[in-house]
Amino acid sequence: MTQDELKDAVAAAAIEEIRPRLAGDTLLGIGTGSTTNRFIDRLAALRHDFRGAVASSEASAERLRGHGIEVFELNEAGSVPFYIDGADEVNAHLHMIKGGGAALTREKVVAACAERFICIADASKRVERLGHYPLPVEVIPMARSYVARELVKLGADPVYRQGVVTDNGNQIIDCFEFMIDDPEAMEARLNAIVGVVTNGLFAARGADVLLLGTAQGVERLLPA
Ligand code: 5RP
Repeated sequence: MTQDELKDAVAAAAIEEIRPRLAGDTLLGIGTGSTTNRFIDRLAALRHDFRGAVASSEASAERLRGHGIEVFELNEAGSVPFYIDGADEVNAHLHMIKGGGAALTREKVVAACAERFICIADASKRVERLGHYPLPVEVIPMARSYVARELVKLGADPVYRQGVVTDNGNQIIDCFEFMIDDPEAMEARLNAIVGVVTNGLFAARGADVLLLGTAQGVERLLPA
């Protein structure tokens, strides 16, 4: 199966995961990326079965609205029963690296407000140790060089993601050559650098379930 077919399969599995739990007042938390886009496209058929969605990016909000799904501000929504999103890497504890699409901060905020985080990913995202994928860090623009120097002290090779401005008006530094042994500790350590908005480690709030697309079918995995 191709990677796109695996993404389609996990998007379909996520629909089956939430479908029995949808009600007229349900607001869904929706992530960002190509896997999530496939989920959004399938969600369109169910749009009359729930109230609407909270989106983790302008791109996802636009796609949801394009399907006639109402998009709400998180401040209006309060908590959401489910947050459905992809990942760039995910380990056995369902800690993740996210932010390949630069939406990490809003993703982390919506995930924090979710009762359950459903991660949807193809098998290429499943890793033993996080860090082969460069870890994104969102910084306020004036702090970029300072934060980069601090990241070097921690052992990373920081690279400014040229030309990218986040939905929050900030910039992204990607940390290359940065293998992570203790994701929770490193998430907290990076967030403590002045000027960092957030980083792409999702460990303090990892996923509750992983729907992993493999050649043998979709595996439903819980945190080890
Ligand atoms: C965006 C993200 C995405 O979830 C992550 O990049 C995975 O994307 P894709 O589904 O396209 O592989 O964190 O900021």
